[in-house]
Amino acid sequence: MSSGQAMDTNCMTLTRYILQEQRKHKTATGDLTQLLTAIQAAVKAVSSAVRKAGIAELYGIVGEVNVQGEEVKKLDVLANELFVNLLKSSYQTCLMVSEENENVIEVETDKHGKYIVTFDPLDGSSNIDCLVSIGSIFAIFKKQSSGRPTVQDALQAGNKVVAAGYALYGSATMMVLSTGNGVNGFLLDPAIGEFILTDSSMKVKPRGKIYSINEGYQGKWDQSTLEYVNSKKEGAKPYGLRYVGSMVADVHRTLKYGGIFMYPATTDAPSGKLRLLYECIPMAYIMTQAGGAATTGKEDVLDVVPTKIHQRVPIVLGSTEDVEDYLQIVKKHTDKGEM
Ligand code: AHM
Ligand code: MG
Repeated sequence: MSSGQAMDTNCMTLTRYILQEQRKHKTATGDLTQLLTAIQAAVKAVSSAVRKAGIAELYGIVGEVNVQGEEVKKLDVLANELFVNLLKSSYQTCLMVSEENENVIEVETDKHGKYIVTFDPLDGSSNIDCLVSIGSIFAIFKKQSSGRPTVQDALQAGNKVVAAGYALYGSATMMVLSTGNGVNGFLLDPAIGEFILTDSSMKVKPRGKIYSINEGYQGKWDQSTLEYVNSKKEGAKPYGLRYVGSMVADVHRTLKYGGIFMYPATTDAPSGKLRLLYECIPMAYIMTQAGGAATTGKEDVLDVVPTKIHQRVPIVLGSTEDVEDYLQIVKKHTDKGEM
């Protein structure tokens, strides 16, 4: 190149990384690689839509109806269709659970593969219209039983995850992935349409300086949450508060900078708000793989066995020492019989 920065002609793309990981397992078939390629494609398409690329097709100039006179699809519906269609056509899935679908999504028999994918195609719905960061979250499981897939096959605990991750549509698009061997982050280079490894072996600090919770619900918290959050505001070095309101953004910041993210139970929502199969499990898996922790307050998030596909659980995750401090307060109240 005549000017500017030198180009890395041997860069580690996400596809290359996945292929390389696959080679480490003698028994690997390449199926997971194919599945992750489909997820990558879905994420790239969602990213493009989120960034309003092809704005004329998405919106037209008149608003609700695009230039072809078709009704414009909402971004979350579009993201869901992209995930469902691209995953089905990867020939690697038999069952899917999406936040957008009430029931499990069964894949046509001729397209069946051995994996079950749970996903939230576009998380952070309240932030879509105001252009604040949003994301996609997914977890991949293997079908454990033989025969036709049923709902039961999708109800697996987080300790059965084969791979999980998220895409953050922030000031740039990043995909964070773990296949059980640490966590890696890949930034989308829009010039070549490839995810490039920029954050290898991501590790969360043992302790951070930030707490992240919707503090508006303070009046509905239990004693432990209240005492823990109050403790972060005391002393000479209080923690800072950051809360985007998009789980992917809040968890990504926690992963990068350390600290704690909480969506606890409230009196209105005794199981919290966030969904186990496609929000809490993938994030708990990533955080744990990065050396952090994730708890419901009662048990490790990855140990919860789901009983319903859209089940919710309270979640507290992040730096181990921060999560440990919270759990100690929980224990104190539990021992006193207050919870
Ligand atoms: P959604 O699936 O409707 O987008 O809701 C999930 C989101 C998370 O991204 C975020 O952590 C949480 O809701 C914020 O909720 P609240 O506005 O109650 O703080
Ligand atoms: Mg969601």
